[in-house]
Amino acid sequence: MKIVDSHSHIDDEKFDIDREEVISLFDENKIDFIVDPASDVKSSEKIVEIVKKFSRVYGAVGIHPHEVEDITDDDLKKIYNLSFSNKIVAIGEIGLDYYYDNSPREKQKEIFRKQLEIAKKRNLPVIIHTREAMQDTFDILSEFKGDITGVMHCYTGSFEMAEKFINLGFYISISGVVTFKNATNVREMAKKIKLDNLLIETDSPYLTPEPNRGKRNESKFVWLVAQKLSELKNIEINNLIYNTNSNARNLFKINN
Ligand code: NI
Repeated sequence: MKIVDSHSHIDDEKFDIDREEVISLFDENKIDFIVDPASDVKSSEKIVEIVKKFSRVYGAVGIHPHEVEDITDDDLKKIYNLSFSNKIVAIGEIGLDYYYDNSPREKQKEIFRKQLEIAKKRNLPVIIHTREAMQDTFDILSEFKGDITGVMHCYTGSFEMAEKFINLGFYISISGVVTFKNATNVREMAKKIKLDNLLIETDSPYLTPEPNRGKRNESKFVWLVAQKLSELKNIEINNLIYNTNSNARNLFKINN
């Protein structure tokens, strides 16, 4: 059985030296497909080109909250136009980050709302990044209830909050953080998320799962995330993957 990595930054410069080789090993590593989310206009443009070249790579276009400070309506127009490209399956990653506060919060909210408008207009799902900003993220997504679906990427919040996002029509995506020694809360939460609402991801090249921490993260390590979740949930790994694969296909409307 092959596995989907629902969030993998294969466009990242850390893969500039061996991107082709890494992707050529997808068969050997039993990777079905990956979705590569953007962080700014430049990476959105790069992803549009990458997905043309590699059949197993799909992409998203959008502006990460870290990068919104100098974003203009002209940039947003570019994102809108890029979203029409072949194999672009979502708007992302977008959201709020009050941990790093790289951009002013008011500007983060403004650009977040404007990108949700783009997703709504294009009828595309969204990939959400949120850090130390759970309530504001929820409040803004609630304004679009019924009009937008998506995924809470690398979710590490409470189960109670997860249920609220699920009620808005969102999937909860678990990353390699679930393997980290100190991540007891994430394991407790992940245990309770129903298979119907679950996605898995690497967030490669970041967040390398145990026991490989310190190495560059790659999509093949999504198997370690699946393995850990199957143990926690006490279900067969094939059952888990069958569900998370079909959830990803359903969300991103991928019918291959
Ligand atoms: Ni990411």
